[in-house]
Amino acid sequence: MRRFYQDNRRVPLGMMLVTVSLFIYHFALDRPSWVSSTVYSTQSPYQAGGATVVVHPSPPFIAEDETTPAPQQPALSAVASSTPSISATSTTSSLTVNDVVLMFKTGASVLWKRVPIHLTTSLSPTRIPSANVLLYSDSPETIGPYTFVDILANTTINDPEIALPYHQQADHDFRQNYAEINNVYPGDNPGPAGGWKLDKYKFVPLVQHAGRARPDAKWYIFMEDDAYLFLPNLVAHLDRFDPQKPWYLGSVAWIHGDYFAHGGSGFAISRKAWEMAFGDHSPQNIEQKYAEFTAQHGCGDHILGHVLKESGVAFGEHPEAEESRFSYGFNPEAHWTSWYEPENWCKPVFSWHHTHNRDVARLYELETRWGDVASAKGPICYKDVYEAMVLPYLRERVEWWENGAAKYDIRSSNVNGVVAPESVTKPQAWKEAWMSVDKCEAACVAWGDCVQWSFYEDRCMLDSMIRLGSGIPEGDARRQSSLPWTSGWLTRRAEHWNSACSQ
Ligand SMILES: *[C@@H]1O[C@H](CO)[C@@H](O)[C@H](O)[C@H]1NC(C)=O
Repeated sequence: MRRFYQDNRRVPLGMMLVTVSLFIYHFALDRPSWVSSTVYSTQSPYQAGGATVVVHPSPPFIAEDETTPAPQQPALSAVASSTPSISATSTTSSLTVNDVVLMFKTGASVLWKRVPIHLTTSLSPTRIPSANVLLYSDSPETIGPYTFVDILANTTINDPEIALPYHQQADHDFRQNYAEINNVYPGDNPGPAGGWKLDKYKFVPLVQHAGRARPDAKWYIFMEDDAYLFLPNLVAHLDRFDPQKPWYLGSVAWIHGDYFAHGGSGFAISRKAWEMAFGDHSPQNIEQKYAEFTAQHGCGDHILGHVLKESGVAFGEHPEAEESRFSYGFNPEAHWTSWYEPENWCKPVFSWHHTHNRDVARLYELETRWGDVASAKGPICYKDVYEAMVLPYLRERVEWWENGAAKYDIRSSNVNGVVAPESVTKPQAWKEAWMSVDKCEAACVAWGDCVQWSFYEDRCMLDSMIRLGSGIPEGDARRQSSLPWTSGWLTRRAEHWNSACSQ
């Protein structure tokens, strides 16, 4: 748990997000269907420095070389969506990677663990011109041609508790301490204690810096070092919005009355939005202006969202409509902890969070093999990620696996209170669901919408969405203490979701 806190610098946000997202997801939102855009099929290939890139049309990618999925992360469903009503901009001037800036954020205590994989994937010059990439850390660093800006270099933070880990970094480097945790003894060390506390101070100066450094960009796209963005998909999506208007797009989060884009999921800010918050008429020292707010709030992405809101930039694809701030595509979780369901199945996907290095490699591979999103094949959708990177691991039934099924949780103690959906053909099957693995599976079969189940002791959990989750490997301590956690999927049922995609 300590490591979790160190590596995930916004645990309180994470917990709030889980609660808020699950609440919104399950109860509050009536999600209208996506309106398919003709923009996707009319764009020309992306140009990087004049060269056409990522154009390798090929059959859908099938992962063959993954074995066991990575360890479990907290479940979080896809953020719900609205139908954008933004008219497509002229297809003759399609947005390309030359028009966007990628703001990549890391920190000295995690850089050596998380960043190297991105140098040959996310930041590859064949994917986005190097000049359009801005790298931010909390300590100056150089890796080959990549230079990381110390975004706190001119900070006015006067909280000694925060300033301490920042200033300790130089001492750490000087003493030849390595923040790598590769078990390359001696020298491995998690970095100065409290490095994660610096995180919330980075967002506002970072976005301010990027807009000043690249004033001609149409969009500023933010990503964290533990995320992966399907950049071609995202650029095609942004082309549907006018950068001369204030747009602030991403995965919705909500704290203290502010809607904002969750940082880990990645987000995009139009040039106009930047100008409204950080342009000529904005306060001379915006960091100072919000110093008190920053001291009182825990999450940098929230602080940035608050600054944008106070500048007149609202979050979301429908900022004027309270209930329409949500968009599919930006995911607060990785592909193996996210949910696949009819609502997102045919929609383009832009980002994954909590990605491990292997995830980044595989997602990049999928993106590269996919090729031109402007071709007839269109952008990579949730179902494409599912087919390439989830389906190959799903089984009819597998022991020592928790897939996170949660919509219905039937136990011996609550079985009389569970109200089965009307579509359940055999109510008796649900009454007995908690009794055994076989009966739990039968309860799933008896409910037409059920695509996955999970059973442990006297709990049968059923869901109408698919999530891979992860297996508990041989030798894991969890195998010694308890009954097997058994999971299963009814993958044939998900095949019916495909029919909606051709519309
Ligand atoms: C800090 O200030 C110096 C001197 O004005 C400037 O050159 C540098 O770009 C600033 N750094 C950041 C991250 O803003």
